[in-house]
Parts: sequence; C-alpha cells; structure tokens
Amino acid sequence: MRIAVFPGSFDPLTKGHEEIIRKAIPLFDKIYVAIGENANKKSCFSLDQRLQWIRQAFADESCVETAVYEGLTVDFCRKVNARFILRGLRNAQDMQYEKDIAEANRHLAPEVETVFLLSTPEIAHVSSSLVRELYHHHADYSEYVSYEL
Ligand code: PNS
Repeated sequence: MRIAVFPGSFDPLTKGHEEIIRKAIPLFDKIYVAIGENANKKSCFSLDQRLQWIRQAFADESCVETAVYEGLTVDFCRKVNARFILRGLRNAQDMQYEKDIAEANRHLAPEVETVFLLSTPEIAHVSSSLVRELYHHHADYSEYVSYEL
C-alpha cells in the first residue's frame, strides 16, 4: 500500500489544498489529510469544523481519510504506516521553507520520503491566511474556498 500523509493546519482547507490532494489521488492508495494540532498555535476555526470541511470536500473519495495528530508528523506517519509526506509548493518561498522541513523530517525518519506537488499558477496565490483575512473582514472568499465558511 502506498500511504501518504498530507499534514497541515487546514485553517481552513482551501482550493489550493484541494487541488494538491486531487492531484495526489492517482499516485497513492490512501491519503491521510491530517490536522497537526499545535497547543501553542491558536486556530481560527475549531478542530471539528476543519475536519468536517475536509470530509465534506472528499466525501466521494474513498482513499482520502481525515485524521488529527499531536507531535511530530513523522511519528504520525509511522503510526499509520505511511512512507510518504505530501506537501504542495506554490512558489520559491514555499520551496525554501519546505526543503528545510523535509530535511529535518528525513533526519528524524529516513524511511519517510517527502513528495512535493506544484500548485497550478492560477491557484498559487491562495492561502489559508488570506481566506481568514477575507472572512474576518466579511469579504468575498468564494474564489479561494469551495464551501461556505
Ligand atoms: O502548512 P501548515 O498548516 O503551516 O502546516 C502545519 C504542520 C502541522 C504541517 C506543521 O506545523 C507540522 O509539521 N507540525 C508537526 C511538527 C513537526 O513534525 N515538524 C516538522 C519537523 S521539525
């Protein structure tokens, strides 16, 4: 089984995340969209709400599962026997940041490989923080999120 973990805060899940997951579906037998809970990081949307949006978006995809974990992403990978961490890249800044995290994860768990998929240019400007900002100001966020917040 090719099992991947797509970790993130998903605060909230954006069309950018959705695109990466949909592109990854043909590559893996199972994808855990896993919310990494960080006690020191306050999220805008509740855990239940974030989980519900992910489940709703991928209700038709039996290979996509949702999960929540605390601690290291690689420890969660080991728990679910995932050999791959999936991450999306939007631009060069993402690449620089993600490369360092991937190296740290490789050091912690050499058996887990990080796989990157590129966002399409039309969607590369989308981020959860942008959505939160628009939501906060009661502005239209429908271009960035496929459901009602
Ligand atoms: O893209 P995001 O939402 O900022 O990602 C957050 C997440 C959960 C992927 C990140 O905070 C994370 O990896 N947390 C677990 C701790 C960890 O494993 N860090 C990497 C090794 S130092």
